[in-house]
Amino acid sequence: MRTPLIAGNWKLHTTPTAAADWMRSLLEDLTDLDVSRVELLLNVPATHLAVLAPITEGTPVQLGAQDVSAHAEGAYTGEISAAMLLDAGARYCVIGHSERREYHAEDDALVRAKVLACQAVGLVPILCVGEVESQREAGEHETTVIRQLGGALDGVDIARSQDLVVAYEPVWAIGTGKTATADDAQAMGAVMRSFLKGRFGPVADGIRLLYGGSMKPDNAAELLAKADVDGGLIGGASLKRDQYLAIATAAA
Ligand code: 13P
Repeated sequence: MRTPLIAGNWKLHTTPTAAADWMRSLLEDLTDLDVSRVELLLNVPATHLAVLAPITEGTPVQLGAQDVSAHAEGAYTGEISAAMLLDAGARYCVIGHSERREYHAEDDALVRAKVLACQAVGLVPILCVGEVESQREAGEHETTVIRQLGGALDGVDIARSQDLVVAYEPVWAIGTGKTATADDAQAMGAVMRSFLKGRFGPVADGIRLLYGGSMKPDNAAELLAKADVDGGLIGGASLKRDQYLAIATAAA
């Protein structure tokens, strides 16, 4: 049984001060949610972690980061290491988001190095994959995603299914209001599961596969009902408490 993971991705939004108020209000609003049936996670800017960690400690809400340095330490001005994120309160880290791949030229080799950097300290990577619109139109979406998974996980091992999360985010669906159909999301989920089984064996049955790309309260239930959609990676809607909670409620 895979507990659904409802993961927000706040991207470059909010301040630590505003986020603290937001989080206190969310915790007050959690009373009606059956938190034994859903895992709640917010991937916030790194500056927010140390502020939010004492607020979320002992609550069902977990924190994650959105990127990490591939390096453990050294002369790398501006970088933030996995150990720093963990110490500041993160338990998960988004890796290889399409916005990092596009605007920061991250390739599969760098994504792989970041997965390993997370694993080295016990931060769970949320590995993002997904095709651009032209690749889907050319019928290359599955080969694209498999190639991304193969590159990012080359030589990577996992002991337990909880040690890795994979998020399928079709790039054409991010922030556009266009969502993959639930059937498209499931089809890719099945392809990814089969690849992961070949790669890791039976442990892959427990790996959570998220869908991301314009997930909203009105399409979440249909997406989350699919066998290989084990949660969501949610951008815009995760900044709105009522929408984030509505999606979590659909998952629970
Ligand atoms: P939206 O939910 O805003 O489309 O963003 C999806 C995303 O990129 C989550 O990582």
